[in-house]
Amino acid sequence: MTITPIFLLLLSLTFVPFFAYAGTGNFGDPCNQANSRLQVGTYQFWSECNLVTYCASNQTCAHRGCRRDEFPFGYPPNSKDLPPKCSKGQFCPDEMHECQDVMPVGSPCQMNRDDQCEGPPNHRELEDLTHRGLNVNGSVCLNNVCMWANVTLGEDCVVENTAYTAYTAGSEFIDIVSRDNCRVGLYCDAQQLKCMQEREEGEQCDADKERVSIFLLLGICGSDAAFAHHAGKWVYALVVIGMTTAVVGTLWGLFWLHGKQRAAERERRLQYWKEQNAFHQNLNRMKEVARASIMSFGNLDGLGTNSIPRSFMGSN
Ligand SMILES: *[C@@H]1O[C@H](CO)[C@@H](O)[C@H](O)[C@H]1NC(C)=O
Ligand SMILES: *[C@@H]1O[C@H](CO)[C@@H](O)[C@H](O)[C@H]1NC(C)=O
Ligand SMILES: *[C@@H]1O[C@H](CO)[C@@H](O)[C@H](O)[C@H]1NC(C)=O
Repeated sequence: MTITPIFLLLLSLTFVPFFAYAGTGNFGDPCNQANSRLQVGTYQFWSECNLVTYCASNQTCAHRGCRRDEFPFGYPPNSKDLPPKCSKGQFCPDEMHECQDVMPVGSPCQMNRDDQCEGPPNHRELEDLTHRGLNVNGSVCLNNVCMWANVTLGEDCVVENTAYTAYTAGSEFIDIVSRDNCRVGLYCDAQQLKCMQEREEGEQCDADKERVSIFLLLGICGSDAAFAHHAGKWVYALVVIGMTTAVVGTLWGLFWLHGKQRAAERERRLQYWKEQNAFHQNLNRMKEVARASIMSFGNLDGLGTNSIPRSFMGSN
């Protein structure tokens, strides 16, 4: 009875990636390109074909021609059918049908695919070295148009706001990510559409774009929960202190416990020794009494102590 729900849960967990990222069409199955779309909330590309095929122009599922990940979903380990990764100067589109050349400024690009756009000549200067996903090689895809992230302070900029559905334990919330073509270190103000200086965390913000971290937290610039957190030095210090305290505390606790046990053991032995000693003394006294009474009895009776068996008198 209880096995069925658990089994179903495991089954659903196993197939979550398949349900979430692709359709069910196998190679050669019919599909409709018009049904390919970005998923609501996650903006992940979806087609009617499965994880190893794409919906080709002849409306059947065909083998994929490129991959974006080192180990893509859907292929068995060490698969020989793994499509190639695209070389430098090329990209693998969301459909993953073939590698294509990066496109010049002004070309149409797919959502959040900055890598589909050709980098600017000064790409070294413009690229996002902070790894916050601001641009790729200095180029950025905004509202499906290739641009360069080269706009300087106070100049006109383009901004694209996207509402993602984000999940926390037991609930979901809307995470608005704002992307723009300002240089790294600036953000595009939504009202004035001008590049502004990013504010530091903790300062007053009125929108999540005034980020150093793209997130609005009660009007204070905070960190986006979706981004990696970097702990301050004091956190490391606290962790080290905590660990040291725990280790020393454990050792001290064990030493103390052991000491108590040893003391109890010593007490027990002392007690035993005292009892044994008292017992011995009692025995000696009894022997003395017995000898004395036998002596007096012998004197009365005329019998010598020699007639009493030695064993009765003990060894002394
Ligand atoms: C459909 O197109 C794909 C890719 O070009 C090809 O591999 C496949 O054989 C074609 N299918 C049919 C039925 O023509
Ligand atoms: C960045 O863009 C420049 C200019 O288009 C190009 O020469 C270079 O190969 C690109 N670098 C990468 C890592 O794609
Ligand atoms: C900035 O990038 C745009 C394309 O987004 C380009 O047309 C323009 O020439 C660039 N400006 C500079 C100063 O490089």
